[in-house]
Amino acid sequence: MTGPSAPLKGSVRFEAVEKRFGSVVAIRSLSFGIEPGTLVTLLGPSGCGKTTTLRMLAGLEQPTAGRILIGGRDVTSLPANERDVSMVFQSYALFPHMTIGENVAYGLRSGGMAKREAWERAREALMLVGLDGFAERLPSELSGGQQQRVAVARALVLEPQVLLLDEPLSNLDARLRRHVRTEIRELQQRLGFTAVYVTHDQEEALAVSDRIVVMRDGEIAQSGSPRELYEAPASAFIADFIGEANVVPCEVLRSADGALQARLGDLRHPLHAPAAREGAAQLAIRPNAMTLGDPLPGTLSGRVASAAYLGDHIEYEVETAVGRLFIVDAAIERVRPVASDVGIGLIERGVALIPA
Ligand SMILES: Nc1ncnc2c1ncn2[C@@H]1O[C@H](COP(=O)(O)OP(=O)(O)O)[C@@H](O)[C@H]1O
Ligand SMILES: [Mg+2]
Repeated sequence: MTGPSAPLKGSVRFEAVEKRFGSVVAIRSLSFGIEPGTLVTLLGPSGCGKTTTLRMLAGLEQPTAGRILIGGRDVTSLPANERDVSMVFQSYALFPHMTIGENVAYGLRSGGMAKREAWERAREALMLVGLDGFAERLPSELSGGQQQRVAVARALVLEPQVLLLDEPLSNLDARLRRHVRTEIRELQQRLGFTAVYVTHDQEEALAVSDRIVVMRDGEIAQSGSPRELYEAPASAFIADFIGEANVVPCEVLRSADGALQARLGDLRHPLHAPAAREGAAQLAIRPNAMTLGDPLPGTLSGRVASAAYLGDHIEYEVETAVGRLFIVDAAIERVRPVASDVGIGLIERGVALIPA
């Protein structure tokens, strides 16, 4: 048997990949794997190296060091057209003078496929993305969302092992973005292809991914499922980047019965982190994990600095001994006025100890 064995088809591995542009280190050292048939998102702030990583996978950039494997095969020195991947670009990059059908068939035709067969395949791909009947139109006759679906069809028609998407929704308005991201995810799950998806939008990443690789300064800050990243952030950076969080200093104590607690002022919060060590640490607290009440013993005392009514919740900023906290309170019946003294409590969920 030649070629990759079946279980590896669609898998991706980065092994200690590094990329420099002259003196700029774009990627320090990147090692991660992607399981076949999953959607993995590269997420991180602008300039962290997401596009460079995707372009190295596509064969559009050459790593300075390390290896890249696709389907179990070392593709590090292979040109783009021999890698069995296709890319959906941010700008769609459709040919404006060609019909939609010709755009989608283009890759097959330039690979030598006969016109009739290429056309047939293009129509099937357009059907997959819900654009049946659009083959004869020009790109300018389609909306932005439809053009993006053509770009996806054009990549999928090549039946690549891995589909690469670089900020595919950034040219769409906010309302369409949610809709198209759902479509892409639905298509990926239905057809079962491997996808590597780049975005700087954490909500988009949470919504579409099986796993998220969060990057920072050319390195992996943390990777895991959306839930792992949200509920067990490994650093203050992750806690604040994935969702919003108040990161505050606390003290980890062991109570008389041996249970671990975090102490924040007068407030004690039980910890379910068996590996936690006693002493100074940090807590990441989601804005909706705090309750506001009267300044009673056992609460963290604070003074309301601002209060904004937003229909179904109230947003507060409260000054406390551990800093100014951002609190989202669903209890809209009672607005705590600015300058009033309050006692803050914590609920069970939405509080995570950040490892030292
Ligand atoms: N062709 C290039 N020449 C020089 N520096 C580059 C080049 N491409 C990217 N970089 C640098 O590499 C870093 C990562 O860029 P990029 O991968 O585009 O980030 P992202 O997609 O996460 O915004 C940035 O510092 C960027 O300026
Ligand atoms: Mg980019």
